Amino acid sequence: MREPATKKAIKKFILHLHPLKIDKRAIAFNRTFGLGGIAALLFTILFITGMMLKFVYIPSAGQAHDSILSLKNDIIFGNLLRNLHYWSAMLLVVVAFLHLVRVFYSQSLFYERRKNWLYGLLLMFLVVSANFTGYLLPWDQLSFWAVTIMTNLLSYIPLFGEGLADLIRDGDTVGETTLLRFYHFHTGLLPLLMVFFMAIHFWLVRKAGGVALPKIEKSKKVDTHPHLTYKEAFVALIIIMALLLFSIFVDAPLLEKAKPTVSPNPSKAPWYFMGFQELLMHVHPVFGSFIIPLAVTVFFIAIPFIKYQEIEPGAWFHSKKGRKMTIASAVFSAIFTFAFAIINDAVFDFSNRLAEWPSLISTGVLPTLLYLAPVTAFLYYFKIKHKANRPELMIGAVTIILSAYITMMLTGSLLRGEGMQLIF
Ligand code: HEM
Repeated sequence: MREPATKKAIKKFILHLHPLKIDKRAIAFNRTFGLGGIAALLFTILFITGMMLKFVYIPSAGQAHDSILSLKNDIIFGNLLRNLHYWSAMLLVVVAFLHLVRVFYSQSLFYERRKNWLYGLLLMFLVVSANFTGYLLPWDQLSFWAVTIMTNLLSYIPLFGEGLADLIRDGDTVGETTLLRFYHFHTGLLPLLMVFFMAIHFWLVRKAGGVALPKIEKSKKVDTHPHLTYKEAFVALIIIMALLLFSIFVDAPLLEKAKPTVSPNPSKAPWYFMGFQELLMHVHPVFGSFIIPLAVTVFFIAIPFIKYQEIEPGAWFHSKKGRKMTIASAVFSAIFTFAFAIINDAVFDFSNRLAEWPSLISTGVLPTLLYLAPVTAFLYYFKIKHKANRPELMIGAVTIILSAYITMMLTGSLLRGEGMQLIF
């Protein structure tokens, strides 16, 4: 019996994404947690809802806020559409980050997957940029001041920071032209770049032979359809249903129309950038906005290119020791980072005690070295006492960075009140 044309077309499309047969271990949920696929699904939802929002939204400082209000109040399902777009965008940041974490801890970024790790980092940057440019569009007090804070942070970068901030804002303050610029980035260039790099990303996954799996003597292959395709459809349905339910009951935030002369107290960056805002409260701006972020970015780019003794792609945490190091490093980094921030301000207080020193040294080099010394000692202890090898030490170092950022992000988001004072 001949297959119907539509069924054939669907099969052909699926085969562009997946091979005909697949290793049974690759479709176990706890191999990838479906995170890459969920990110792709969220992008699709964002694309469709975004296209619909474009019919109502007006990208001008005078009318943007009113157009969102009219979407919410006058258009049938308008509020639901906005909520779906907003919550999918927030979830995409979380899911893309968790996918990065899964790829790293399952050691799936080495050898033939190195290039795809770099494309992944680029995608992470695009996901955050798309979120950030969309953040401004409602033109309310929350979005206006969050973007003002973030673009001001950029201007601390030495030499080209001011120029970069002015380029992003199209002027020295956030205004009418910033909104238009963000709108075009958000609804044009960034989605286009994301589609392009996602296509390369998927192609490289296939080229590497699918998801990374530890080598075994004999692996069992199963048909991709229906074994993987049905699972993917099931996860997609759950995500869509959960998002719909959440969007019915929880509204995306919308404060009063932006007042460029009245800043709220406290004024905070978007939640995913709060780690940077928190960092800047403790160290010299050049360190907080440039040297430390740059060092971390270069480190993340370099991870798969460093020489290791032995790597088994697909092996979670590399080894049992790697798993233990992950837990120990996460706990150590969270406690130490939080404690160090308090001690740095309350006890060291270098900006006052060493007022005659150049501030780059007293509030930049000195606290950074004081922070790094115990961190290095911690990793050294694992190397000497527990004979941790290079991949295990790398897992420890990455965990320390991730845990430190999350700690600062949570501190800034949840524990800072009026005047950015710590509140418990
Ligand atoms: C819009 C964002 C992204 C999308 C849609 C996406 C999608 C995917 C998909 C569908 C896979 C196949 C396996 C899986 O589902 O886990 C995958 C694998 C991979 N992704 Fe992503 N990804 C994104 C962002 C990232 C990021 C931020 C990184 C890390 C920096 C990354 C690095 C990788 C690597 C190295 C692989 C191969 C892993 C393996 O072979 O096991 N991706 N991605």
